[in-house]
Amino acid sequence: MECFVIDGKNILQGSVTIKGAKNSVLPIMAASVLNSSGEKIELTNIPDIIDMHVMKKILEYLGLDVHYAKNTLSINAKNRPSHTISDDLMSEMRSSIFLMGPLLARLGKVRVTYPGGCSIGPRPIDLHFKGLEALGARITEENGSIFAHAPYLKGAEIHLDFPSVGATENLMMAAVLAGGKTILHNVAKEPEIVDLQNFLSGMGAVVRGAGTDTIRITGVEALGCCSHRIIPDRIAAGTFLIAAAVTGGEVLIKGVIPSHLDAVVAKMREAGASIDIFDDKMVIRKSKLRGVERVCTLPYPGFPTDLQAPMMVMLALARGNSTIVESIFEARFRHAFELRQMNAHIDIDGRKAFLQGVKEFRGAEVTATDLRAGAALVIAGLAAEGKTIVRDIRHIDRGYERLEQDFQRMGARITRVRDFSKVEAAGC
Ligand code: UD1
Repeated sequence: MECFVIDGKNILQGSVTIKGAKNSVLPIMAASVLNSSGEKIELTNIPDIIDMHVMKKILEYLGLDVHYAKNTLSINAKNRPSHTISDDLMSEMRSSIFLMGPLLARLGKVRVTYPGGCSIGPRPIDLHFKGLEALGARITEENGSIFAHAPYLKGAEIHLDFPSVGATENLMMAAVLAGGKTILHNVAKEPEIVDLQNFLSGMGAVVRGAGTDTIRITGVEALGCCSHRIIPDRIAAGTFLIAAAVTGGEVLIKGVIPSHLDAVVAKMREAGASIDIFDDKMVIRKSKLRGVERVCTLPYPGFPTDLQAPMMVMLALARGNSTIVESIFEARFRHAFELRQMNAHIDIDGRKAFLQGVKEFRGAEVTATDLRAGAALVIAGLAAEGKTIVRDIRHIDRGYERLEQDFQRMGARITRVRDFSKVEAAGC
């Protein structure tokens, strides 16, 4: 079991280049099963993260030819993919469900099981099912297996009860090969949805409206190959912005699309952070942080739930009181209990966290309970007095490419230790 050992009181200095967005890569890799041209798809700016490798394994299991080297993926779906995904692979990550829409569209049938994922509360997939049924699929469940059957998908007008990111993407990938027109209302507007639309358009799909409330799709007979560069990871960029603010450092963040972080920058500025923006770069300077009345997570363009945990670290170390409301996920405050061990003053009441800023965190042994909670604990450890050990960092590797190396380049004293029981022996 690997862990990070952090020698605290770091002040981050330097620069970091942002890699491709995890939340774009996964649906786009799934969409590549729609390519029946026999030519290969090339994807660049691919982050070397566990979730990408799990999706690669799933595509290979389905019979696709997939190669990854130097942040580039080539994917060839010239063999007709299998319609079944093994239970083991389905349970490795939540995003395995992205295969349902495109496999159904390409093959007319798909067999999956319920997906795995982060421990951040219940994550139903009813909206995915309802939408696919509206397109003509018949979905049945037996002994935990989900079988969807649709010899012919037919375009439909669908209203999502909630702008779910995954359901929007799954339905887009199903509708691109459905007969006639599909109109998706109340869809998610995340930049990753726009990235998926651009990829599908590159394959020959007719999709318009991503980034707004309504997406219109006209089905086509078949889709082909294309080359596509994945957009930068706004959540990784936000993680580094917050880490710089918390440590009182000065950091240049390169290769970002700053407008994707508008809500984050606005809230950080409200808390006193000094951030300048130039084209595809952001600079954060040493700033005095104060609490904010309220941060509420919302669907894009609101404050992202994926940065709620890092933001909690920042506000727990700011002068004064703050309130955080988690409106997207039911149980996404587990990091608060870990942060309390580091001297954070946080009270949780349902979906609200009440923070009383403290001057300093104390190093402690803490556990990454999910991907973003893990990143937050690393930030907390960078700022804390003394030594912090973050356990279960596999969660962090799911979504950040060698996070410790980016921090080391900015001067941080953080080490990956292969075996938790050898922390002392490693001289950490
Ligand atoms: C995606 C992101 C994740 C982010 C989340 C919210 C990817 C790979 N992951 O996850 O990083 O935290 O968006 O921005 O892109 N819901 C239902 N029924 C459904 C689907 C969703 O009730 O069928 C609910 C969920 O329980 C949750 C809310 O809708 O409360 C948002 O979920 P959703 O937008 O679907 O998140 P994901 O696509 O799973």
